[in-house]
Amino acid sequence: MKKKVEEDTDEKPDLSSGSCIDSDHEPETMTLRPQRISEYVGQDEIVETLKIAIQAATERKEPVDHVLLHGPPGLGKTTLAHIIANETAGELTISSGPALEKGGDLIGILTHLEEGDVFFIDEIHRIPKPVEEFLYPAMEEFAVDFVFDKGMHARSHRYRLNRFTLVGATTRVGLLSAPLRDRFGIFRNLDFYSGKDLARIIRRSAALLDVPIDDAGADELAMRSRGTPRIANRLLKRVRDYTQVRADGIITKETVQAALALEGVDTMGLTNLDRRYMRTIIEFYKGGPVGIEAIAATLQEEADTLVDVVEPYLLKIGLIMRTPSGRKASEDGYRHLGLRIQSNLFS
Ligand SMILES: Nc1ncnc2c1ncn2[C@@H]1O[C@H](COP(=O)(O)OP(=O)(O)OP(=O)(O)O)[C@@H](O)[C@H]1O
Ligand SMILES: [Mg+2]
Repeated sequence: MKKKVEEDTDEKPDLSSGSCIDSDHEPETMTLRPQRISEYVGQDEIVETLKIAIQAATERKEPVDHVLLHGPPGLGKTTLAHIIANETAGELTISSGPALEKGGDLIGILTHLEEGDVFFIDEIHRIPKPVEEFLYPAMEEFAVDFVFDKGMHARSHRYRLNRFTLVGATTRVGLLSAPLRDRFGIFRNLDFYSGKDLARIIRRSAALLDVPIDDAGADELAMRSRGTPRIANRLLKRVRDYTQVRADGIITKETVQAALALEGVDTMGLTNLDRRYMRTIIEFYKGGPVGIEAIAATLQEEADTLVDVVEPYLLKIGLIMRTPSGRKASEDGYRHLGLRIQSNLFS
């Protein structure tokens, strides 16, 4: 199954500041990834929901209800799928929407699941519709229906599956069909992490990487990690290198600032792409409103990358707004880039 995941990576945009399925299999990602629910920092409500579901299901000797997780890249969806499997002692099978090209791909996986296994489908909104239809009976009744012949002679044969837990992850819940969405018993949104939770994640990762960091250093790094654990971990490694070579080995506020200046990460955690996006709206489109396709064309970036990776955080911290007629820069957006607001825009 892992192979299928990897085949798909070229279809994903380069999300160096965000998602990449590939990075899920790097050794350091594996060491930093929490394995048990008790190690998972933040997202308290989701964690509580899952703890209850896992304990209840274990007591009843049933698999956990199907779980749908949505939210921006790098917030911990894949991690939660691993945790659910670990906590229930099920095997984890990983695939992704685009890798499940044909019904046969999906059926092949489903028929090999053992009782209590966890089947994780990343980017579940990209499953082709005909394949998706095989999932409905699989999720509801733990069965797949094969149809032989066509027209009048069509016969269907029902094949029983072992009871499993489907964990679906998506960055775009709006693109998921209603029948699929409704078949998940647990449906949760992962939000960006608070500075406090990120600082905890950073201290935990630093300890695992065996690099000393002081509290001010962890707080500074947390502030610049775009609310995203994956970015926090990635930047931590850059800061570790910098500190080892240019400083005395302990990560402090000063080394974080110096190292991240080299990375092009600013005080709010914005990257070069974030700032190019903001400048396009402000300077090229006079602050907006402007459609996403126009911004993408000007930037020569994929609209999907902008929608999945760039915009969620800028919206979250209020640097841009989404209006029916397109994206607009907010007053804070102008201010953050040190640009003057054009008159009458906010009157
Ligand atoms: N709650 C958390 N506590 C500690 N570390 C975390 C947490 N959530 C995520 N991480 C770290 O961030 C990394 C990225 O998380 P993960 O791969 O689960 O994100 P994702 O939501 O699946 O992203 P994508 O949409 O890109 O697949 C993990 O390898 C893990 O080290
Ligand atoms: Mg993932």
